[in-house]
Amino acid sequence: MKAVQYSEYGDSSVLELAEVPEPHPGPGQIRIRVHAAGVNLFDAKLRSDFRNTGEPLPEPVVPGSEAAGIVDEIGEGVSGVSLGDEVFGRGPATYAEYAVLRDWALQPSTLTSEQAAGLGATGQTAVRALAELGVGPGETLLVHGAAGGVGQAAIQLARHRGATTIIGTASVRNHELLRQLGAIPVEYGEHLVENVRAAASGGVDHVLDAAGQQVDELVEIAGDPQKVLSLVDFSRRTPVRTSHGGKEPAGSLQLLAELAEKGEYTSRVAATFPLAEAPAAHDLSESGTANGKIVLVVD
Ligand SMILES: NC(=O)c1ccc[n+]([C@@H]2O[C@H](COP(=O)([O-])OP(=O)(O)OC[C@H]3O[C@@H](n4cnc5c(N)ncnc54)[C@H](OP(=O)(O)O)[C@@H]3O)[C@@H](O)[C@H]2O)c1
Repeated sequence: MKAVQYSEYGDSSVLELAEVPEPHPGPGQIRIRVHAAGVNLFDAKLRSDFRNTGEPLPEPVVPGSEAAGIVDEIGEGVSGVSLGDEVFGRGPATYAEYAVLRDWALQPSTLTSEQAAGLGATGQTAVRALAELGVGPGETLLVHGAAGGVGQAAIQLARHRGATTIIGTASVRNHELLRQLGAIPVEYGEHLVENVRAAASGGVDHVLDAAGQQVDELVEIAGDPQKVLSLVDFSRRTPVRTSHGGKEPAGSLQLLAELAEKGEYTSRVAATFPLAEAPAAHDLSESGTANGKIVLVVD
């Protein structure tokens, strides 16, 4: 099958279209014929060896952690899904014609496969982060980096959890987008603290950092580092709470699918690229200007 892979760490030019062996599902997994695969900034971080391992790659890597497509193989012990079902979900090596999913849900009828492909990673991250923060009814949440994929997911999911006021930081060009999602937009940068205080006269109960910048100011706004959860700043320079991927909350993809089916959740596709243009997709992701999901369309 065709897949995008890289054999050495580097910039987006290391990504190449290659012929690789097809994967098959193990117990508890399914395989899909991929329609579309979501691109996440983390894919580019891994590609560029952000952990500075300094070691050469032992074998080529096919990037990707989310996709939507048609079920074409079902692993041992799997129930509730049939061959031919349209699903979306999470699994490794999704920049490919076929991919194995470890976690999935039926694709909502309200979404295209491009939208569904990019629903899993940012959506699950937002579900996890809001649960860890304990965002609840009547509360005020500040989302820093609100126009990005995670930020947009967090705004919609905070509304579902009953938050009454959601303030989002973004560039001015994205303020209308935030209003449409139900957030009060404010600019980040020099006047971040004043801007948020003007928008939230009663203060904020929780802060979700999806940008990794101005974390000290976020703590000043919250009045307590324990009210700030960062998805990006793991430096421990400021003692905020952090959260990273790994164990995603059970049922989170089903929750996202149910909300999407009811028209209460969507995934904004900012740009699509054919598989062969994965380098351009990574360049756009790394520019931080996409304001929505970047998706590779496979067929
Ligand atoms: N820990 C985890 O589990 C986890 C999971 C997923 C993602 N992440 C991380 O979370 C971050 C966001 O991911 P994403 O997919 O939402 O990325 P994204 O779609 O590229 O969005 C990034 C957003 O950051 C905003 N931004 C840029 N510079 C900023 C600044 N100085 N201050 C505030 N906001 C700024 C941009 O908004 P404007 O365009 O409006 O300027 C942009 O919309 C990434 O670093 C990603 O690696 C962590």
